[in-house]
Amino acid sequence: MAKKDIDWSNLSFGYQKTDYRYVSYFKDGKWDNGQLTTDENIVLNECAGVLQYAQTVFEGLKAYTTVDGRTVVFRPDLNAERLIQSAERLIIPPVSKEQFLDAVQKVVKANEDYVPPYGSGATLYVRPYIFGSNAVIGVKPADEYQFRILVTPVGPYFKGGVKPITIRVCDYDRAAPHGTGHIKAGLNYAMSLYAIVEAHKQGYDENMYLDAATRTKVEETGGANFLFVTKDGKVVTPKSNSILPSITRRSLIQVAKEYLGLEAEEREIYVDELEDFAECGLCGTAAVISPVGKVVNHGKEICFPAGMSEMGPITKKLYETLTGIQMGTIEAPKGWIVEIK
Ligand code: PLP
Ligand code: COI
Repeated sequence: MAKKDIDWSNLSFGYQKTDYRYVSYFKDGKWDNGQLTTDENIVLNECAGVLQYAQTVFEGLKAYTTVDGRTVVFRPDLNAERLIQSAERLIIPPVSKEQFLDAVQKVVKANEDYVPPYGSGATLYVRPYIFGSNAVIGVKPADEYQFRILVTPVGPYFKGGVKPITIRVCDYDRAAPHGTGHIKAGLNYAMSLYAIVEAHKQGYDENMYLDAATRTKVEETGGANFLFVTKDGKVVTPKSNSILPSITRRSLIQVAKEYLGLEAEEREIYVDELEDFAECGLCGTAAVISPVGKVVNHGKEICFPAGMSEMGPITKKLYETLTGIQMGTIEAPKGWIVEIK
């Protein structure tokens, strides 16, 4: 199979049309069997539930080429579970785990020429989503839905290199004001756009959102969870019911304990504690683990010296172990790597 002629190493995190996408329709109370299509456009009624009331949820995972040339995806069962939870919160009829996994297999297989080669630094980003498609004018759930998966080859989410990632502590809330921060719903991301545009204008890469109730605890950024390392080498991540339960973070906690013999814990983290940490990183499917150099809390700068020029030593070990597991150079825990056949 010939790979597409793409400059893999210089890809950014952007959308590019590939050959196939998956679509399944929900009508008369049930999902159909789904199919692949070459048409990247969707025609919708002007009053579709997704357009009027943002009734849409999504997921994000990646396909990799392993060192021995297989195409694999990382823990897709957890994306299926989270999509189902997100859907239930927005009264979207969830697809079954089986249909989700089958759809991922089909759409990645059909676009295998777009899965970046091993060692290129790029990956195939897989974006499943479900949205209300028929007309609704009263505030109520749609009756018809589409479950789709698009794929697109991507490079790093944060450019890195010369400039360290800097973050500002943010005064807005990321999630829509309906207690939906823990799900991947389109409305939560729309709510974060104002803050990210403002942060970029001020020269920051991302926002550190705080808990809405007390504004004292670290939540997450617009597209990734936080991970910190204490000065005595312990991995800590924020515990909160209103952040997205990151699959990368949950995997890294296990990697820290079982592969690196480190202590790792999820607990509430106060913004006042930031200066006590030795390393800070952002973790997620898109972010992988990106080292943070500086957090600015209303004028007060907290620097993580390691993250200013490179990755801190523990962040680096976590990164190398996780990506080694994903690319097949390090043995994975059972069930983490699913081959596309
Ligand atoms: N937090 C937010 C808001 C996200 O959008 C993402 C990305 O999906 C994450 C965290 C990281 O989650 P995961 O590791 O499952 O990709
Ligand atoms: C992901 O990491 O998959 C995300 O969804 C983050 C961002 C691109 C929204």
